[in-house]
Formats: sequence, C-alpha cells, structure tokens
Amino acid sequence: MTTTSLPLSSVKIDSQIAAAVTEGLLSRPKWLPSWLFYDEAGSRLFDQITELPEYYVTRTERSILTERAEEIVQRAAARDALRIVELGAGSCDKTRLLLRAAVERQDTVVYEPVDVSPSALAQAQERIESEIPGVVVCPRVEDYTREFSLEPPSPGERRLVLYIGSSIGNFEPHEAGQLLENVREGLIPGDALLLGVDMVKDRETLLRAYDDAAGVTAAFNKNILTRINRELGADLDVGAFQHRAVWNRYRSRIEMHLGNTLPQTVHIPSLDLRVEFEAGETIHTENSYKYLPGQAETLLRAAGFAPEETWTDEKGWFSVCLARAD
Ligand code: AVI
Repeated sequence: MTTTSLPLSSVKIDSQIAAAVTEGLLSRPKWLPSWLFYDEAGSRLFDQITELPEYYVTRTERSILTERAEEIVQRAAARDALRIVELGAGSCDKTRLLLRAAVERQDTVVYEPVDVSPSALAQAQERIESEIPGVVVCPRVEDYTREFSLEPPSPGERRLVLYIGSSIGNFEPHEAGQLLENVREGLIPGDALLLGVDMVKDRETLLRAYDDAAGVTAAFNKNILTRINRELGADLDVGAFQHRAVWNRYRSRIEMHLGNTLPQTVHIPSLDLRVEFEAGETIHTENSYKYLPGQAETLLRAAGFAPEETWTDEKGWFSVCLARAD
C-alpha cells in the first residue's frame, strides 16, 4: 500500500467515530464526515482513485510540481535552509519532488510529516529515507485539524509547510480559513506555506473525476458504510446504496452522496441506536470545494499569509500557491 495525503486525520479514535455517526445519521438530511472514508480499505481505494484516468487532480498537481519544484524550493528558502513540514503523512511521489529539489540545494533536509496515524507516518518515513538520502524524517503524531505546534526553526532555517493534494477542498470555507489560521499561528514571519487547490472547471470533467467508469469512487464512497458495519456493529444494507456525485455550482463544490434505494431500519447496537432510512433518502458524505482564480490567495491573506506566487497547469485546472507568513 502506498501512503496518501489524507484530507483529514486518517484514523480517529472510536469515540469520535461514535459521536460523528450518531450526529450525522440522526440529522436530516443525513450526513457523515469524509474523514470516515480513510480506514485501511478506504486509503487503498483513495490511492487507486489518484491513478484513475478521470481523476485529473493528482496528475495535474504532480505535473506542476515536476516542472516547478526547484523554483518553489528556491523561492521558499530565499537565502536560508529549508525544513519541510507536511500536513498529512505525504503522498510520497509529489512530496518527493520537493524533497529532492531541497536536497540538491542544501544536502540535508529535515522533513516533518504531521499525521494522527503512526502507521502512515512510519510508512512515509521508511519510504522517504530509503529513497532520498539526505532527508532526515522527523514524524509528528498530531491532529493538525485541531492543533498545530512545531519546533521553532534553528538559526538560518525557515520552514515550508506543504498542504498539497487539494486536501483544503474537503473543508467548509470557514473551516479552511480556521485551519490556515492555526497553521499561521504555528509559524513565524518568513516561514512559508505551499497550498494545492483544485480549480473550478467544466461540469463534465468534474463529474467524471468523482464518478469514474471503473466504479472505484463508488466503492470508496460505499466503504464508509462497510466501515460503520464493521466498527460499530451496524447492519446497514450496503448493497441498497448507490453512489452519487453532484456538481453544486452555487457552492462551487462536488458533493458525494449515498442514495438508499430500499426502505431499511438500521440497528447500531454499540451506539444503542436505531435509524430509519426511507427509499430515496440520501447520506451526504463529502464536499470537495473547487476554487476560482484568486480565491485561495484571498483565503491565505485572511489567515495572515502574503501570497507570493501561484503556479498552474496550462489548462488552469489546478493551482499551487506559495505564501509567506507575514
Ligand atoms: C482527498 N481529497 C482531496 C479528495 C478530493 O478530490 O476531494 C477525496 C476524493 N473524494 C472522491 N475522490 C477523491
């Protein structure tokens, strides 16, 4: 299994799962938080999604980083040495591009992946250290969506925080702003943030990316139900649910839903809960916000960063913004 950059924490403690499922399934309309996707099977399915022909997101960001890694590292470092921090345990292939460029420049680079999952961090450490001599991996087990504290940089060192992969897009706009503010609080002036955002584009391209022909995204979406059955002892009839991707242009987001086709009464004994599902009822499982040109920069400014440069691919499908902590 490869490691992925997860939108949120890849493993939450059971009580958080119990609270989230209770709240979400008792709401109307029903919803579940997208961090529930990422158990082991879900993380594997997400890795497969990133390689699908329809899922342009990973490929496009990678193409920007392949072309620009040296420039990004140079720009972020200015005349100092860089310490690279990554929110999430790191989609190794994209992170590697930046780490390689940093090692070329300064021989040794400290890389701090931040994740709540010790196993995801261990995998990232093993992979990066074996593949890129010169990178010293210092994993940090932390839920960056809640707290964010870093070691202060040594003299002559600046930090570059990577938040790539469009992970910010899985947050509501106010949460995204709050997360960036938390990150800013953990930095000092001169440190930098590299943010990867997915851009608004034609509806067909967006829908295909979230409803692929091979059905991998459908399996990824339904896995959330399988996980609830397994971990909470529920009896959801997973086969009765259908994957749906919707482009909500008013809110500039792709929504993923699970539509229930047969009436069912679901028991979740571990939560002492019984939930009725009508035929046609849906569970909203994910939002993936797409940005208009300039929006990421506005969000960054509001969080206390000064955007310095934005790189995009030739179609303008994805943007990578470098911003400096003011
Ligand atoms: C992790 N995140 C950026 C993905 C996205 O595109 O919003 C999650 C995903 N959901 C369906 N496909 C991929």
